[in-house]
Formats: sequence, structure tokens, C-alpha cells
Amino acid sequence: MTSNPYAGVDVSGQRILVVGAAAGIGRATAELLAARGARVICADRDAPRAAAVAASLPGGQPLEFDITDDPRLRDEIATLLGDGRPLHALVNCAGVTGVTGAPSHEIDVKDFDRVVEVNLRGAFVLSQAVLPHMTRHGYGRILHVASIAGKEGNAGMVSYSASKAGLIGMVKAMAKEYAETGVTINTIAPAVIRTQMVDAMSAGQVDYMTSRIPMRRCGTLDEIAEAIAWAVSPAAGFTTGFVYDLSGGRAVY
Ligand SMILES: NC(=O)c1ccc[n+]([C@@H]2O[C@H](COP(=O)([O-])OP(=O)(O)OC[C@H]3O[C@@H](n4cnc5c(N)ncnc54)[C@H](O)[C@@H]3O)[C@@H](O)[C@H]2O)c1
Repeated sequence: MTSNPYAGVDVSGQRILVVGAAAGIGRATAELLAARGARVICADRDAPRAAAVAASLPGGQPLEFDITDDPRLRDEIATLLGDGRPLHALVNCAGVTGVTGAPSHEIDVKDFDRVVEVNLRGAFVLSQAVLPHMTRHGYGRILHVASIAGKEGNAGMVSYSASKAGLIGMVKAMAKEYAETGVTINTIAPAVIRTQMVDAMSAGQVDYMTSRIPMRRCGTLDEIAEAIAWAVSPAAGFTTGFVYDLSGGRAVY
């Protein structure tokens, strides 16, 4: 127990890599974790914005890579881990929607491939890059941001829904492989949180998604950052291979 039970999740002293930290959910999560005492490495393909976020955080550190650039990602993470200090957690918030608002037969296969490359393959490579380090230390938390679209499917978002469903399956398999190592691997499935990603979609697509939320509102950045902070904290020790719900009641399983 912390001395102040209302202080929130305790992540003080934790070293946490947040990928996709330049904007939206990643940025909000990086800010909350840092406010709670974590040393946050802010990674993104958008180097200037990631650097600005890192500079605004106590102990923040910027890192630039694109999660589809396999060798570069592995090199950057190997360098980061090369100082011998433990990395306690990885939060992966990097993601793209690809084309939305169109039926499957109109989607270019190249668009489908690109979405899968970022949302699924990128998450796989990221996990591979940190797992040997975490298992060696006998502790770790990996949290990938999936989506309610991966559980239920969103019409007009076939590439995105498929990539997030694949991500959930990947996490469930990986979690079992590492269950005895001290490393937990989970996902979180938000419905709609207003970020630049959502703002880039058509009003019709956003209406479709929000109309399915029983709470009749979008989630907030604070709400998702709090949920992620708990899921990657030392307190969350007995949960792995799970999809945390953040859907205002839309998820039924
Ligand atoms: N906002 C929502 O309603 C919502 C709902 C469900 C799931 N999600 C998921 O949450 C995650 C974050 O979404 P967001 O709304 O904050 O989006 P966002 O666009 O605001 O932020 C995403 C960040 O990821 C970075 N990024 C994208 N592709 C990258 C790549 N290849 N390599 C490195 N960095 C990359 C971007 O530069 C950006 O900083 C995504 O995985 C998204 O699919 C979002």
C-alpha cells in the first residue's frame, strides 16, 4: 500500500518505453506515467514531436524509429537496453487506421498490408526486441493497444479490424509462452477516444462507432492512460493474455 491510497497507481522508479508517444493515447500515457514517477522513453516515427513530449517530462528521453523499420527498431532498442538497466514495461500505442468508410472489395490490398504491417507486424517485432531482456530480468509488462474493432469488427474498417484481431491473438499466444517468466503481455481495447486518428475519419464513420457505445460518450485520454498505467504497474501481476476493456459497455466478452 502507498501511504496515500488516493495517489493513483504507483509506477515510481519504473523505466517504461512508450511507443507512439508523440500524440494521442501514447502522449497522454507518457505524461501520466511520468507524473507518477516513471522514467519514460518516448518513441515515435515523428521525431520532433516525440522529442517535445520527452522534453516536457521529468526524466523523459526521446527515441526515434518507425515500427515497420525492423532493423532500425531492433538497433535502437538494443542500444537503449545496452546500459544494463532494466526496462520494466513497454506500452505500444503506435497504430494507423488505413482507409476507412469503404467496403472490403474497394480496399486496395496495399492499404490492407500497410495497416497489418504497422498494427500487427510492428507489435510483434517490438515484443521480440524487449522479451529476451525482460525474461533475463525476470520481470516485465508489455501492453499493446488493440481496439474494440478487433473484438467485434467495425464495418468500413476491415484492415484495421483484422489487424487488431490479429494483435489480440498474438498477445494471447505470447502471454502463455512467457507466463512463468515474470513478464505479462496484455492488450487494451478502447472504443472511441477523440484523438487526431479519430479526427481524420469521416463524420459518418465516427458516428457509426460512437453510436454503438452504451454509455453514449467517448472515452477520455485520462481514462485510458489510467487503465494503461495500472496494467503496466507492478500491482498488475496476475493478469496476462487479457484484453482490458475500455469501451463504455460495448464489449460483451
Ligand atoms: N483513438 C481511438 O479512438 C482509438 C480506439 C481504439 C484503438 N486505438 C488505438 O490506440 C493507438 C493510439 O491511437 P491514437 O488515437 O492515440 O492515434 P494518434 O494518431 O493520435 O497517435 C498515434 C501515434 O503513433 C505514431 N505512429 C504511427 N505509426 C507509427 C509507426 N509506424 N512507427 C512509429 N510510430 C508510429 C504516430 O506518429 C502517432 O504519434 C493506436 O494503436 C490505435 O489503433 C485508438
